[in-house]
Amino acid sequence: MADFDAAIADLRDTGFGGDHPRVALILGSGWGAIEREVHDPLTTRYENIPGFPEPAGTAGHECRLTEGLLWGVPALVFRGRYHAYEGHHPRSLAIQVQVAHALGCGTLVLTNAAGGIRDDLQPGDLLAITDHINLMGINPLAGFTRLPGAKPFPAMGGAYETDLRDKLIDAGAQTGEQVKHGIYAAVLGPSFETPAEVEMLRRLGADAVGMSTVPEAIVARALGMRVCGLSLVTNRAGGGQDSHEHTLKAGHDNAPRLVKVLQALFAGLV
Ligand code: HPA
Repeated sequence: MADFDAAIADLRDTGFGGDHPRVALILGSGWGAIEREVHDPLTTRYENIPGFPEPAGTAGHECRLTEGLLWGVPALVFRGRYHAYEGHHPRSLAIQVQVAHALGCGTLVLTNAAGGIRDDLQPGDLLAITDHINLMGINPLAGFTRLPGAKPFPAMGGAYETDLRDKLIDAGAQTGEQVKHGIYAAVLGPSFETPAEVEMLRRLGADAVGMSTVPEAIVARALGMRVCGLSLVTNRAGGGQDSHEHTLKAGHDNAPRLVKVLQALFAGLV
């Protein structure tokens, strides 16, 4: 299981927190190109951070934590996240957000790849998350011991802050990209959904589906952080095109657009 005390002690020892990071960004599958935008980076690999769980070897998930100036904002960038489908203990999914909070970040920007469910959500579309449906069957706050510093029963209404979502949609408008908005359903994975499951999700009110983000949003709210979520729609959910390789390629192909929109968002966070 993740060991937060060991991780934060080591990160502080190695200079993390020195830039007083304000915003943490967790990069989803295919979003890795953003890491290169960090100015004057201090970087470490997850496997070198004591207390960080061993990253699973899913192809394309290179796992590094970087601190530095991201488009003028002191930031922490997590390239690679822990997924429940990799078999991590639910509490371990909290470690990145705990670290970001402890190093001073008040805002968390979550990115991911998602399958489009709503008819207009096509591959390549960007979606600002307005709310989520947790169908993962786990919650990182559940457990015999309480997550240190976290509210035990955090309210999740308004978890994805309207002000940040509006900034995201504005960031799209400024850069000529339409940022749509909608509800993200999180499932455990790692198998993609059947067409019948996609129909169920649609009837439940989900606009897009993915296998991440929700545990981190829950932890961030429990710690009192502001949360913003942005999905890149990589496929139509339940279609024949679903594959991890396809997800990574979609991220790679869309990298310049993702950089543009996030850069404009960060300009609004200064
Ligand atoms: N389903 C679940 N997770 C995903 C998908 C999907 O269709 N696409 C990208 N991540």
